[in-house]
Amino acid sequence: MPASQTLIVGAGGAVGKRLTAALAARGSRVIAADRMPQLPDSITSIASVCVGGVDVRDQEALEHADADTTVWNLAAPLSVETALDPAVAEAVTMGGMSKVLTAMREVGARRICFTDSIGSFGAEAPRSGATARWLTENPTQDPGSDYGRQKRGCRELMAEFASAAGGDPRFAVLPGVLHSEAIWGNGTTEYALDALLAASKGEQYECPVEPDVTLPMIFVDDLMRGLLALQDAEESALHEPENGYAMPGLSFSAEELFEEIRRHVPDFVPTTKLDDNMAKFARLWPDTLSTTEPLRDLGYAPQVAVPKMVETCLEAHAYRKMRAEAFFRAIDADRNGLLDKTEISHFMVTHLIKGREERGWLIQREDLVEEMASKVITEMDLNGDSLVSSEELFEWCRRNTFNGLVEQFVQERA
Ligand SMILES: NC(=O)c1ccc[n+]([C@@H]2O[C@H](COP(=O)([O-])OP(=O)(O)OC[C@H]3O[C@@H](n4cnc5c(N)ncnc54)[C@H](O)[C@@H]3O)[C@@H](O)[C@H]2O)c1
Repeated sequence: MPASQTLIVGAGGAVGKRLTAALAARGSRVIAADRMPQLPDSITSIASVCVGGVDVRDQEALEHADADTTVWNLAAPLSVETALDPAVAEAVTMGGMSKVLTAMREVGARRICFTDSIGSFGAEAPRSGATARWLTENPTQDPGSDYGRQKRGCRELMAEFASAAGGDPRFAVLPGVLHSEAIWGNGTTEYALDALLAASKGEQYECPVEPDVTLPMIFVDDLMRGLLALQDAEESALHEPENGYAMPGLSFSAEELFEEIRRHVPDFVPTTKLDDNMAKFARLWPDTLSTTEPLRDLGYAPQVAVPKMVETCLEAHAYRKMRAEAFFRAIDADRNGLLDKTEISHFMVTHLIKGREERGWLIQREDLVEEMASKVITEMDLNGDSLVSSEELFEWCRRNTFNGLVEQFVQERA
């Protein structure tokens, strides 16, 4: 039986957002925790409890857990970020896992789920059909990165939690996660997401990995089915060592991806400019993951192939772009194709502040408009001309909303 509630640490990230949504959609109680001060609207509207501004290394992040809580620990920098600052990454990844397991012991919670990565496979690993079992049976192999070493450290902490404290740890070895969200972290397989975004904007793209290197990936809809199956499985159904399962999805090279993108954007012709870390990791990691174990024990098999993934991502970017352009036109009163501070202030007063009054909001802070408009312009204006173009607005809207900005301002200055 699934536990009565799920606590997700790192809920604000690419995987966490979707996991929160998938759990909430089936009626589970979700406690969403993240280091980011303000969790995204898409989470606050569906999670039972939201705890922003907490670090996985602080006990506070776990104070909502009880004996019936399943914990997902997703808080970790991705591969490239880890390579740039391994010490901080280790403190978050392994230090955080240690704190999570200690807190779980204190309240008697047993089930911890963790997202390992293809970054755990080093040069000795099989190129095709890679399994989580291979990782547990080759504990001394060199993953070739701090990212992989830190994931191994987490597996060891979880194995100790099982043997010494009767815990019920499970882990999924994730390939590159593909999704149609607007933002993502700094990893290697994220090159595919960058390429899809560049294609949708009609921009040039420099590919940071060798175009003929195949990497395993997974579309997030498949990933959610796999992760929920892993979380829900009876302990007796899990036959793999340390309850570890690779999560297969789809595999492709950059060349194959670009070919598929060109079916939608014929002019998309990327160049290659290798990034040292990304190119190294791409060569190191396997091409495909085994489908046998997750199908046998979890009933999971991937369904989304490259054409569907590309179409879904491009459509989502096009939709966001269309909305941003309509939004831009609504602010651009003089129709000169650029937004200035007067236009932004006017829009805020008319649509955000006045709107709030009409909806019965008690706090009316028209006096903050001047300051808010300056902040918006500073954040959006990428070329320093104190004006905002349609592209700059689109870029800002990937991470922010006007409503969120007003809300934050009103709260801070209340
Ligand atoms: N995205 C992928 O392709 C991929 C592939 C393999 C494995 N994984 C693993 O899955 C997990 C989640 O990945 P993601 O893509 O969602 O990453 P992400 O970077 O999008 O999200 C990570 C989240 O963790 C939060 N976080 C970071 N440090 C924290 C801290 N100290 N305390 C609390 N929260 C903190 C961040 O604010 C962010 O919201 C990670 O462990 C990652 O290694 C991801």
